Order: sequence, then structure tokens, then C-alpha cells
Amino acid sequence: MRTIRNIQEMLNCSKKAHLQRKTIGFVPTMGALHEGHLTLIRQARKENDICIVSIFVNPVQFGLKEDFKQYPRPIKNDLNLCRKQGVDFIFLPKTNQMYPEGFKTFVTVEELSNQLCGKFRSGHFRGVTTVVLKLFNILQPDIVYFGAKDIQQAIIIKKMVKDLNVPVKIKIMPIIRQHNGLALSSRNLYLSKEERKDALVLSQALGAARNLINTGVKDTQKILSLMRRLINTKRTAKIDYISIVDSDTLKSIKVVVDNCLIVLAVWIGKTRLIDNAEVSFPQFYV
Ligand code: PAJ
Repeated sequence: MRTIRNIQEMLNCSKKAHLQRKTIGFVPTMGALHEGHLTLIRQARKENDICIVSIFVNPVQFGLKEDFKQYPRPIKNDLNLCRKQGVDFIFLPKTNQMYPEGFKTFVTVEELSNQLCGKFRSGHFRGVTTVVLKLFNILQPDIVYFGAKDIQQAIIIKKMVKDLNVPVKIKIMPIIRQHNGLALSSRNLYLSKEERKDALVLSQALGAARNLINTGVKDTQKILSLMRRLINTKRTAKIDYISIVDSDTLKSIKVVVDNCLIVLAVWIGKTRLIDNAEVSFPQFYV
């Protein structure tokens, strides 16, 4: 496994791979890798000649009051995990190389970026799409792997790729959860023991919604109010949003339809967690 910090060096390696007619699979991450990331990496490894992982805590996607500074950076452990998965290149750019003085260009997918998390994290998705497009240009991947855990992010990136004719294929992989249902996240590291218990309410609320839908309830308000009630029983929980949305527009819908998304963002103490489930008829499971 080769670790690359320099943008030009990474670009040269990608170009060389393409000249050799090798396909590149790419997994962009911010590190603090867990089984969610590793599942994406394994898939990229399996489906491509070359597997590249980037680790970059991207400052422009964090708000001023957000956790950029505290974000976990266990780099040695991350490198070991990648080595074990047979990753070929780790791209670890420096912030001042990615954003040198005078950096002025940002990419925004309009409307989709202002819904859901975008309402609470102003500028977040603009930061994500900007860094992701930069990474695509530097790595020139054939297939890029994203997790359904951050479903709004994945939908926005798919839209950017379509609208800007970016020559990559986007694959979205299922959410990886602990046995107790908690969706894996680097931010789970922030949770205290009590908060870890309370955090289970996110997937439990999705499970309760699923049960209701499976009994035939289609009125989204009924489903959302049950979810809200459940989440509010937890002392440390504070809801940012819970919504049932169309999977193309991310706009709220009144009646549950096949392939719509149940999405939520909830603070557990000082940690903001997100989770979601896609509805699939006739029955679906969280
Ligand atoms: P990060 O939070 O490190 O996530 C990297 C990728 O791992 C994302 O595609 C995310 O959806 C996926 N992932 C995280 N937890 C997962 C889980 N439990 N199951 C399945 N996939 C999971 O997302 C980012 O980084 C950044 O915004 C990035 C795209 C790298 C741009 O900076």
C-alpha cells in the first residue's frame, strides 16, 4: 500500500493506471474508519483493479460551531485497516494543498443541498460537493462508493455527477449497523455510556415506522408523530428533523410510497446523529 500526500503525485498514479487500462475504485472518507467504511472498501477492492481510499477531514464542510477540531483522527489505525483490506493507494492530502490561499471555486447542487440536513448545516453540502469533485479530478476513478448512511449526501453527489457529466459511476451501499441497530458512525465515538443507550432510539424509531407501514398505515403524519413520541422519551435526545421524503427531490410527502425515504437527524447530548431507511413494498426491514 502506498501513501500519497501530494496532489500531483496522486494524479500521476491515476493517469498511469488508466494508461495500463486498469480500473480505479475509490472510497472517499474522513477517516476514523469502521465497518461501514470497510464494507465500501471491500466492494471497491472486489470490483476494480486498483483500490484507492482518501482520508481527508474536509474543513469546508464543517460549520464554524461544528466539530472539525475534535473530529477523530486515528491515522495509524486507519492505515492498518486499509492495508488489511488490500488497498493500493491511500490519498492523504494536506489542507493547504487542497485549499491553497486564494481558493475561490465552490460547487453547489441547488435545492437538494438546502433540504433536511442542509437546513441545519448551512454550507455543509457545498463543502462536500466541492471536495468530492476535486477528489474525482485528482483520482479519476471509474467507480466511487458511498454509504446509504449519508443518504442525502449520496443523492446530491449522484445529481452533481449527472448534471456536470462527470465520467464516474456512483454506487450506494447499504447502511452497516451494530447488532443493536445503531448505525455505525465515526461520531459514535463521542457518545457516553448513557448516550449510547439513548442513541438506539434512532433505529428503533425507524423500526417502529416500518412496523406501522407494514400494517398498512400510509399517512406520513401518523408515522412521524409515533417516531417523535418515541424519540422524545429519551432524556438526551433532541430532534433536528424527522421526515418522510421523495427519494429524488428530498421533499416531504403526505402518503408513503414505494422507495420513499424516512430520514432523521437527532442530537444525542452534544452529538448529532443521522439515520434513515428506504421504504420498499410490500414489506421492508430496517
Ligand atoms: P465519512 O463520514 O468518513 O464517510 C465516508 C463514507 O462512508 C460515506 O460514503 C458514508 O456514507 C459511508 N459510511 C459511513 N458510515 C456508514 C455506515 N454505517 N454504513 C455504510 N456506509 C457508511 O461522508 C464523508 O466522510 C464525507 O462527507 C466525504 C464524502 C468523505 C467528503 O468529505
